[in-house]
Amino acid sequence: MKKLLIVANWKSNKTTQQAKEWLMAFKSIQIPDNKEVIICPPFTLLSDMTKFIKENSLPLHLGAQNVSSFDEGAHTGEINAIQIKEFAQFVLIGHSERRLNNKEDEKDLEKKVNQAKNAGIAALYCVSDKNTFIPHEVTTVAYEPTSAISTSGIGIPDTPQNANTVAFEIKKQSGIQKVLYGGSVTEESVNSFTSQLEIDGVLVGGASLDAQKFLQVINHA
Ligand code: PGA
Repeated sequence: MKKLLIVANWKSNKTTQQAKEWLMAFKSIQIPDNKEVIICPPFTLLSDMTKFIKENSLPLHLGAQNVSSFDEGAHTGEINAIQIKEFAQFVLIGHSERRLNNKEDEKDLEKKVNQAKNAGIAALYCVSDKNTFIPHEVTTVAYEPTSAISTSGIGIPDTPQNANTVAFEIKKQSGIQKVLYGGSVTEESVNSFTSQLEIDGVLVGGASLDAQKFLQVINHA
C-alpha cells in the first residue's frame, strides 16, 4: 500500500495563538499508518508548534515554506537550512507564488535544494507542469498547475486523470519517487486525486487553514 503524504501549506497565515487553537483539534486524533501529515506554517510558528506537537504527542510533522539559498552568515532576513533543521524535517521549495512574487529562478531553487539536502531536510519541490526543471537531488515533487491554486484568481483544479498522467510523466522523466497533487484540493475532491495510481499525496492550501476542514481532507484521502 502506498503511503500518502498530506501536506498543509498555511502560506502567510496564523498567529501563535491561532496555530495553538488549530493544533488542539489534533489532540487524541489517530492518523492511520498509510498517511503522513506535514504542516508547513510560517517560520515564526515553527518553534512553538514543535514544542506543542512534542508535549502532546500529536501525529504531525513540520515543514518550512522556504529556505535560504545561502549558508549561514551575512544574509539579512534569510533563514538557513541548519536553522530550519532544528524544527522541521521538510521544506517547500519552488512554490509558484515564490517563483512569481519573489522572482526565484531555477538557479536559486537548485541552490535551495542543495542547502536542504546538506542539512538533511527533505525538499518538497513544486512544479507547475511536467516540463518544469527539477534539480537532481529532489525525490518528492508537488505538481500544482498555477491556475488550479484557489487564490490564483482562477482556482480550477486539474482533472484527477490528467494529474495522474502528469505524475506518471514526471516520474518517468526524472526518476522522482513521489508526486503529490496540489491546487484547490478539498475534502470533497481529495480522494479523486489520491486514488490515482501515480499520485502519492496532496498539497493543500486554503482547505488546511481550518482544522476541522483539514481533518476531513485527511479522513477522505
Ligand atoms: P490551494 O493552495 O489548496 O488553496 O489551491 C495550494 C497551494 O498553493 O499550495
